[in-house]
Amino acid sequence: MIYLDNAATSFPKPEGVYVALDRFARTSLANPGRAGHAMALAAEHALDDARHRLNRFLNGRDLNRFIFTYNGTDSLNIAIKGVLEAGDHVITTDLEHNSVSRPLVAMANAGFITLTQLPSDGGGTVDPDVVRAAITPKTKLVAITHASNVLGTVQPIEEIGRICREFDRVLFLVDAAQTIGVVPIDVQAQCIDLLAFPGHKCLFGPTGTGALYVGPKAKVKPWREGGTGGDSSTPTQPSEYPYYLEGGTPNVLGIVGMIAGLDFVEAETPAKLRAHELALCERLRGRLLAMGGFQIAGHADTMRRVATMSFQSEILSATELGGVLDQSFAIAVRPGLHCAPYIHRSFGSYPDGLVRVSPGPFTTEAEIDQLADALQEITGGL
Ligand code: ALA
Repeated sequence: MIYLDNAATSFPKPEGVYVALDRFARTSLANPGRAGHAMALAAEHALDDARHRLNRFLNGRDLNRFIFTYNGTDSLNIAIKGVLEAGDHVITTDLEHNSVSRPLVAMANAGFITLTQLPSDGGGTVDPDVVRAAITPKTKLVAITHASNVLGTVQPIEEIGRICREFDRVLFLVDAAQTIGVVPIDVQAQCIDLLAFPGHKCLFGPTGTGALYVGPKAKVKPWREGGTGGDSSTPTQPSEYPYYLEGGTPNVLGIVGMIAGLDFVEAETPAKLRAHELALCERLRGRLLAMGGFQIAGHADTMRRVATMSFQSEILSATELGGVLDQSFAIAVRPGLHCAPYIHRSFGSYPDGLVRVSPGPFTTEAEIDQLADALQEITGGL
C-alpha cells in the first residue's frame, strides 16, 4: 500500500516511536501522580519530560502551560469554550477545519457570540490587514489555522499575532495541526496566546494525543474537572497549571510516543522534513501539469506551503478518483471536503471536494511516480 494521507495522520511512524511505545507499555505504564510508588513516579516523570520538551521546541514561557489533550479538536474546544464569554466577538477565516468553525458557528447560532469569517485570497492566504480591519472593541479571539489542511498554504501568523498583541482584549489562537514539526513555531515571537495541536500528525505520535499551550494572557475556564493525582483534598479543581485544565488519567503512553516522534523531528529538523515532502509535491505537480486535465488548488509557491496538495480531475469526481486509487492501485489519499467546507466553497469545489495527497518523510519519489502513473491510467492521460 502507498500511504499518502499524512495530513490526516502520519504513517508509518519512525521506528523509535514503536520502540518507545513498546518499552514504556511493558515497564512504566502506571497512573502518573496517583501514588508514590516507583512506576507512578516514572509515569509522572515522563509527562514532566514531555512538557519540558514541548516548551523548549515551541519556546513557551512555562512548561506547565502545556496541557495534554486527546487531539487537535480537543485542544481547540478547550481553548474556544474556555475563553469566550457572552457578547464576545470572534474573528476566524474560511480556511478553518470544522474543529474551529463548528464550535464557533454553534456559539454564534445560539446568540452567545458574534462571528466574522474572513475570506482568504484566491491562493489561500489571509491578509493580516484584513484581520486588523475586522477587530472591534468586542473582539476577544482571533482563531486561525497555521496552514490550510486542504491547500497547504501557510498563514502569516507572526504578522497577525503582532496585530492581536496591540489590543489588550484580543487573544490569538493558532491551530497548528498541519504545521507543528515541519514549520518553525515560536509562541513568544509569534505572539501566540493559545496554540492547539495534535501529536499524531507531524509529531509522529499515536492517535489520541495532543496539547494546548496556554500563554500568560489567556484565562481559560476548565471544563474537564476531576482527579489530578496530587492534592485530592480541594473540593474544586486545583488552580495550578497544568492540573487546572487536566482532569482524569492522561494518555501517558501516547504522550511518550509523541515525544519519541519529537526526537525524530529534532534529529531530522523540521526544515529538512518539509523540504523532502515539498519536493515530492512538486514532482506530482509537474506530472499533473504535463498530463493536463487536472486543476491544482492553492498558490504554487512552495515557500508558502506545507506538503498538502489538493486537485480535481476534469473527468472524475474526487470521490470516484479516491475510490479507484484505493481499490485498484492500493494508494491511500483523502478525497472530499476534508472537514473544511468553507474553503471548498471559496475554491468552487463544494460539495464534491478535491483529492488530497499528503506525503510524509518516508514517502519516496517512486511512490509519487506510481501515483502519477495511476492517475494517468485512470483518466486516460487527458
Ligand atoms: N484533520 C485531519 C485531516 O485534515 C483529519 O484529514
